[in-house]
Amino acid sequence: MDGLSRRKMLFAGGTLGAFGALSVASPAGARSLWTWAPSGSVAGAGAGLDPEWVWDEEADRLVAAVLDRGGVAEVNAALREWTRNDQPPPAGLPADLRDFMERARRLPAWADRGKLETAAEFNKSRGLYLNLLNGVGGGMLSTAIPREARSVYHSKGGADMEDRVAKTSLLGFAVGALNAYRPDGDVIVQAVKTRLVHAAVRHLLPKSPGWSRTSGGQTVPISQADLLVTWHSLPTYTMRKLLEWKVPVTPAESEGYLHVWQVTAHLLGIRDEYIPATWDAADAQYRQVLDPILGPTPEGVELTDILLGQLAEQTSPGGVDRPLVNALARYLVGDEVADWDGIPREPFWERAIATAWPKLVAFREKLIPLPLVPPLAWTIDEAARQYILFYLTKGRGTRIEIPETNRPG
Ligand code: HEM
Repeated sequence: MDGLSRRKMLFAGGTLGAFGALSVASPAGARSLWTWAPSGSVAGAGAGLDPEWVWDEEADRLVAAVLDRGGVAEVNAALREWTRNDQPPPAGLPADLRDFMERARRLPAWADRGKLETAAEFNKSRGLYLNLLNGVGGGMLSTAIPREARSVYHSKGGADMEDRVAKTSLLGFAVGALNAYRPDGDVIVQAVKTRLVHAAVRHLLPKSPGWSRTSGGQTVPISQADLLVTWHSLPTYTMRKLLEWKVPVTPAESEGYLHVWQVTAHLLGIRDEYIPATWDAADAQYRQVLDPILGPTPEGVELTDILLGQLAEQTSPGGVDRPLVNALARYLVGDEVADWDGIPREPFWERAIATAWPKLVAFREKLIPLPLVPPLAWTIDEAARQYILFYLTKGRGTRIEIPETNRPG
């Protein structure tokens, strides 16, 4: 694989041998049988179809037609004008696409304004944890999701990870913003644009030899099952970590946080019959769709290395260095995933973080007094802040746009 050094390969899972098999068309982990019942979904009922075989029919057809007739530049120019939740899709869009977007941007009947407001407050009060977990933790998990790593690597954005991170952070921050679902917020816009980007990727990637060679037999990427996997790598993973870190979360906050992501899932084109209605249903689905498929890929190792390198270089000058970045990333996702991602071991910082982070959380939550926080904790705290700042600022001046090609070369 291009640019992937032997050193990085050796880090991943510690076994070069495994890669020989993985880089050919075999899935890194076996999927479990789909048994999750639609009675556990926000729809409460459904056909129970395996989401592995469901994509996003209408969006896929409309965006494929735009790509086939060479209309991407025109659509992207119109999309640039679309920036706020309360704004109808621009008139310059093709009528059929505009009509679709007009429906796609409507909040579902089950959306609850009160819960969305509670979630916004929660996002504000727990911003440090949530951004760190969604941004860095979710990012490090996503590179251990073989299908996602390969799709990202072989798509246009895979060639420019800086831009790709910036674009992805646009949605992340839109979800977490205080005005996320208010008229002047933009999460509806970013989610519907993302839905269109995914539709384009479904049309483009099957033409990529690099993707087809490694897709493990999948002929169209980003199925509803894949969307669910990535969705769980965001809110479900994050809530698990918050509980593990003993962050006090009220039942209303917990419900609100789930709700903001349920509504976002709907806007991203995930069918209501697959969106978990409760955390218990989400946990059950997580165990079924996410746990079994995580694993190493050469693409994931390379993307992880690029992401961590960017964080180390671009956070604060002389501030966060790579060993600390590596150790913090490892702390967020655990040893197994970190090994699959090829994150190097950093004994000093790993020990420091394992000791200091729980104290830092307890201090923030006013559960212990300052003298009990080791001084090194503030270096780690600063690193976490720089991480977040990095993601925040990356998003400025960029936009989510429909790609017209795969990764070049
Ligand atoms: C694009 C978020 C699921 C692969 C994007 C973008 C966002 C996003 C915000 C736009 C940024 C950009 O254009 O680079 C999400 C969320 C997901 C999800 C929130 C689930 C809840 C997936 C899955 C896959 C995937 C399951 C593949 C298995 C891609 C690819 C692009 C993309 C290949 C386009 C990159 C490019 O060529 O520019 N996604 N995504 N995404 N996503 Fe997703």
